[in-house]
Amino acid sequence: MSDLDDVKAEFLKTLDGAKAAGEAEKLRTDWLGRTGRLRKLTEDLGKLPVEQKKLRGKAINDLKVALEAAIDERLKSLSGVKAAPVDPIDVTIPGARPRYGRRHPVYATMDEIRHIFEKLGFEAAYGPEIETAYYNFEALNIPLDHPAAEPFDTYYLDDPDAASRPYRYLLRSHTSPAQMHVMESRKPPIRVVVPGKVFRTDPADASHLPVFHQCEGLMVDEGVTFADLKGVLAIAAKELFGAKTETRFRPSYFPFTEPSAEVDVTCLLCGGGGCPACKGSGWIEILGCGMVHPRVLEYAKIDPAKYTGFAFGMGVERVAMLKLGVPDIRHFIRNHPLFLRQW
Ligand code: DAH
Repeated sequence: MSDLDDVKAEFLKTLDGAKAAGEAEKLRTDWLGRTGRLRKLTEDLGKLPVEQKKLRGKAINDLKVALEAAIDERLKSLSGVKAAPVDPIDVTIPGARPRYGRRHPVYATMDEIRHIFEKLGFEAAYGPEIETAYYNFEALNIPLDHPAAEPFDTYYLDDPDAASRPYRYLLRSHTSPAQMHVMESRKPPIRVVVPGKVFRTDPADASHLPVFHQCEGLMVDEGVTFADLKGVLAIAAKELFGAKTETRFRPSYFPFTEPSAEVDVTCLLCGGGGCPACKGSGWIEILGCGMVHPRVLEYAKIDPAKYTGFAFGMGVERVAMLKLGVPDIRHFIRNHPLFLRQW
């Protein structure tokens, strides 16, 4: 039955030439279909004697099976995945959970600080991030040639008109200039907190970033004293860090306050006993503060003979690091999801 072998060889050669699934599929009709080549061979069987008919019939059938298999094989290699049965959608697979966003820990801390002072009667206010040198320095009694100006003397914005202006523009290096905006726009009694971004030329290290956040506070009224400042900050510290927290005021210097102080709270980690975080002292510095300098009130056209006030400024990242136990401030801007998802 070498003629069948020839048929097979011829078919395989043709199939080999099929370059697309459609062509291979067409060979199935042409060769194996109702009017195809193999049908013809089957029809011829009728003329044969019974014994031969049996043998040849089986051979033709085997050939048919072989050709079908060859076509399927070819289809698979031609259309790759497409030839495989498509997986139906598995409706029993649980859906992908959407990931909810959340407040950044620095902003959550800033909200918390703001909220604590709101409960004490302070209203949130905001100042611009782009300031003039007048608000950033002069109105705060900071002479630009004074050593105290150095940490604040930072990013000036390129301004072609700078020479013709009395003051240059810069990114504010603290939130204190907002004190002046508030005092210019409202009359005492004033009680505000100003959360916001500040900018300095500090290179980033474990405790510094060139862009960070502060929360300023200002209270101006008749008869405001240092005792009010101490009371407000002592309560705020307990609210912020826990009821056992004690505060300590150390004399300091800021050009815009007189007298000035820095405030420490008992170390959160050791409770005041002394540990590496507080360098063995039991205390951790959290803010600067003082009684508003009379000259600053004068700049704001508030009569220092009638009104007094206190002000304070705290670093939000620093508070967040203490509260959340974050050892390196740079984690806050790396924004790794595993870090952020902890809170
Ligand atoms: N502006 C100061 C700073 O960035 C912090 C500060 C100190 C703010 C004393 C105040 C203050 O309002 O009274 O270092």
